[in-house]
Amino acid sequence: MKPIIIQGAESSEIDFFLDKLELYKEFTIGGFSFFKGNFNNVDVIISKTKVGEINAAAATTIGILNFEPRAVINQGTAGGHKETIHKGDIVIGEKFFQINSYKSEYLGKQKGTKPINWTLKEFKCLEDKKCNKYNVANKRLLELAKAEIPNLTNKKIHVGIIGSGDVWNREFDTITYLNKNFNTLCEDMETAGVYKIANSFDIPVVSIRIISNNELLKEEYEPKIAKECQELIYNFVKLL
Ligand code: 5AD
Repeated sequence: MKPIIIQGAESSEIDFFLDKLELYKEFTIGGFSFFKGNFNNVDVIISKTKVGEINAAAATTIGILNFEPRAVINQGTAGGHKETIHKGDIVIGEKFFQINSYKSEYLGKQKGTKPINWTLKEFKCLEDKKCNKYNVANKRLLELAKAEIPNLTNKKIHVGIIGSGDVWNREFDTITYLNKNFNTLCEDMETAGVYKIANSFDIPVVSIRIISNNELLKEEYEPKIAKECQELIYNFVKLL
């Protein structure tokens, strides 16, 4: 059977997988690492995407073209955007919303900068009606995740929109603005790139994230929590 690509941006987001993996072969392509192997009787490619949307998009493209996966699972840490979403909770990304795609108002010479007036919306999507096709998780994977993940963990599970972009927001008001206006449950730096590329290749994709920090609650970033997401995904891929 074709393999499943499982992605993580940083070493701490793939190290549990690598411990479990019966490694067949390691590849480095264009500077990106891929570990081909098997765990739990599932053929997988563990892919280290590196941090950020450009890296994530490149790693997804390279992974799809070289390994012909039957699905791409993106996973890792994310920052909470709601006071009801705590460190350790899981977010299943039904869609993503691009949180770093701005158009600013015209301001003349020496008028400074007014980020509060920037339009944060998917203005490109308004021009391209097909755009929404690229923003969503695969229906079957999403339904499977919604049905099965509650059986695999006691963690609180949220399903909805992942805010994604090359930005780490720490301002209470910005985070609240994103949540109130665009319904973002959390933010990360890879899901947008991964969904766009996987969907344009018609490869089923879903992003499942663990909350590692929430500024609204003063819950500080804890990268180690990435292991708990990997444990969950390890059990989830068996069901695919
Ligand atoms: N904002 C942005 N990215 C975050 N990550 C974890 N928390 C946040 C946050 N609050 C993830 C990103 C990136 C890494 C730095 O951590 O997806 O891969």
